[in-house]
Amino acid sequence: MSDTKSAHSEDIFQRDMAEYEPLIRRPVRKKIADFNRDGRLKHVILSAQFTRPLLDEICDHADMVRELAGDTDGKRKLGTLLSHLHAMLYFTQPSTRTFLSFAAACRLLGIATEQVRDSAVSSETSEGSKRESRFDSIRMFSSYFDLIVMRSKAPNFAECCAYLMNELESREFNTRNIPILNAGSGADQHPTQALLDVYTIRRTFQFQDTKRTARPQFMQLRERYPELKQGIDDKTYAFCGDLGRGRTVRSLVELLLNYDHVRMVFISPDNEKFRLGDDLRNRLIERNIEIEEVDSLDAQINGKPLLSQIDCLYMTRIQQEHNHPEDEQFFASTDMSHYHLTPERVKSMRTYAPILHPFPRDSVAGEIPTSIDSDPRAMYFHQARNGLWARAALLIHVFNADRTLMQMYKEHFADVHDFNEAVL
Ligand code: CP
Repeated sequence: MSDTKSAHSEDIFQRDMAEYEPLIRRPVRKKIADFNRDGRLKHVILSAQFTRPLLDEICDHADMVRELAGDTDGKRKLGTLLSHLHAMLYFTQPSTRTFLSFAAACRLLGIATEQVRDSAVSSETSEGSKRESRFDSIRMFSSYFDLIVMRSKAPNFAECCAYLMNELESREFNTRNIPILNAGSGADQHPTQALLDVYTIRRTFQFQDTKRTARPQFMQLRERYPELKQGIDDKTYAFCGDLGRGRTVRSLVELLLNYDHVRMVFISPDNEKFRLGDDLRNRLIERNIEIEEVDSLDAQINGKPLLSQIDCLYMTRIQQEHNHPEDEQFFASTDMSHYHLTPERVKSMRTYAPILHPFPRDSVAGEIPTSIDSDPRAMYFHQARNGLWARAALLIHVFNADRTLMQMYKEHFADVHDFNEAVL
């Protein structure tokens, strides 16, 4: 497409987005009401929509989906759960894990899917200059589908699409208000990544085996780390890399605010673009969260190496796709090895502390070299697989199929589990 045509369609997009500016600028707590219906999530746009009870419920249900999917009959039953639905996967920004895990979660639950991954092959901004607006595309999807899962490089676009859906419903445009699920928007939000991150952290800190019994290692760990507790609370979480431009860190930090006594360490180049954003820092200070900001994985806190004091390390890559020419100069003059994990650095970590990364990792920069993959603390491939279970559980929540799932689980495992009736 020529630059002129693309500039024109971008102008139209910005004009359409500007109409929602007053809604976007509202405080988060006011927005949340617009994304919920009847006490459950309708549109999933912001991490701040998740409460602790909801996180617990989704993680419990993700476990149930995981267990049911473990045998052919369980899988067959899961495939009937939402088989009346049809989803649009609208991913106009590149994705491997989020796209494929949503596609796999839909398939697991019987949801049929279609996809648009490149606007050049739709009428949106295709060759031939049809110049359909992105908002018209969304409105069209709502005519044919029951759900839109969307990724866009445009910040706030998913949020605006949720407002569009609500508007169509309220003005009785004869257009359905279908759920919008934000699968990554600009540098601002990636709530479903944060959900699978929390699910992974929860599973790691259960210190349980697959039969949900405590691993003997936990008792040994307690001898070495007497303050260690099971669960997500009471932990120190460290985040390393491009913190200012990485949406996964922003979303995960927001979810961790649901837990008690969490401390956070932020490790990034000391530059306003890459360190923790002022808005997020202020929010953490407001919530009395204990935070430290340092500029190297080798930094010390209270006279001891920080890596020996943390319970979980969340690595991220430098988001090269957001670079401007001045950023290239900054990286050329900065020693980026301070933000790369090495086997020596891993050795100084606590023996149980999981290493997470939302992936993709940068195979050129090498913030996590492959030599670390076989370390039992390397959780990033498990984390990516957990996206399947967590996203399936989220879809079950959005479409109000939780009770059916619990009944299915209870019946399926009736002979095996001593199931607690009280949870039904
Ligand atoms: N973590 C993540 O969002 O990966 P993808 O970009 O591959 O979806």
